[in-house]
Amino acid sequence: MTRASLKRLGVIGYPVRHSVSPAFQQAALDHLAIPARYDRYEVAPHDLPAFVATLRGDEWLGINVTIPHKQAVIPLLDEVEQLSREIGSVNTVLRRPGGLEGRTTDHLGFLRAVRESGFRCEGARAVVLGAGGSARAIVAALIAAEAESIHITARSGDRATDLVAALLPRRARPGGPITSCPPGVPVLHSSAWDPSVLVPLVRSADLLVNTTPVGMRGGGADDESPVPAEALHPGLTVFDAVYNPIETPLLRDARTAGARTVSGLDMLVYQGAESFRLWTGQDGPIEIMMRAAKAALA
Ligand SMILES: NC(=O)c1ccc[n+]([C@@H]2O[C@H](COP(=O)([O-])OP(=O)(O)OC[C@H]3O[C@@H](n4cnc5c(N)ncnc54)[C@H](OP(=O)(O)O)[C@@H]3O)[C@@H](O)[C@H]2O)c1
Repeated sequence: MTRASLKRLGVIGYPVRHSVSPAFQQAALDHLAIPARYDRYEVAPHDLPAFVATLRGDEWLGINVTIPHKQAVIPLLDEVEQLSREIGSVNTVLRRPGGLEGRTTDHLGFLRAVRESGFRCEGARAVVLGAGGSARAIVAALIAAEAESIHITARSGDRATDLVAALLPRRARPGGPITSCPPGVPVLHSSAWDPSVLVPLVRSADLLVNTTPVGMRGGGADDESPVPAEALHPGLTVFDAVYNPIETPLLRDARTAGARTVSGLDMLVYQGAESFRLWTGQDGPIEIMMRAAKAALA
């Protein structure tokens, strides 16, 4: 197989050198002997339209999209699924005969990660920290999974309120009024970040989700947890979207408190496996992908 005949895949972001997607996606392609090459592409915002135009070439299968392009890519595509439009985020582009199609797989990665840990989202009381792109995908997933209540708290309270407003229609059953809330449909709340509110909220929650970068290696708050340890308890499942380090300060505190912990690395690999399936039609080899992702972070 010559390099020229290889199909192309990759991840675009700015910056993108931290991404571990090339390591685990290439491991999956190689494991299944799929003749394709997955690379990282550092694309500045003003270069995004020109780069997306090149994806129309026959050699491309598609691309992953990461910060800061997840929203900006939407108007450059020919078709975008409804959920991606609602949450304002595309993380996977597919080159189809009809043009470029935008999808999101973040919500599926999150759901699989928490479900594989043994947690049941149905009827759960969830607290979500942060109201950015990943929070939108995760809240949409929790709504679809019929959590009982979802409280979004963010340091910009307005952003939390906007998130709730954007996803309110998702609570309604098809055809139902969006203001009604029949059994099985989650109640959404939003609030500004306030430790005096946060601690009692977390104490009475089943699921805590961190979508802020607090605790991320190299992010300036490496040793910090977004939640006081005293709020954590054995009845809680804690998911941290941050995956570098694999055990964040929040997850360490949660483990110490006897809570169930779920790493952001699981979400990363599962969302990547979902993208892989969309591009190749094959199930991603999870163990191979997980091993390669861990090696890339070591
Ligand atoms: N595991 C995975 O598969 C996966 C997928 C996507 C993202 N992630 C990770 O999730 C994190 C968030 O990504 P994102 O795309 O959602 O980012 P984003 O859109 O920038 O949203 C981040 C949210 O966190 C808040 N925030 C930022 N710094 C904070 C601080 N020091 N204290 C409190 N809140 C703070 C932001 O508030 P403001 O609006 O006030 O700035 C915003 O609400 C990143 O670490 C990313 O690597 C992981």
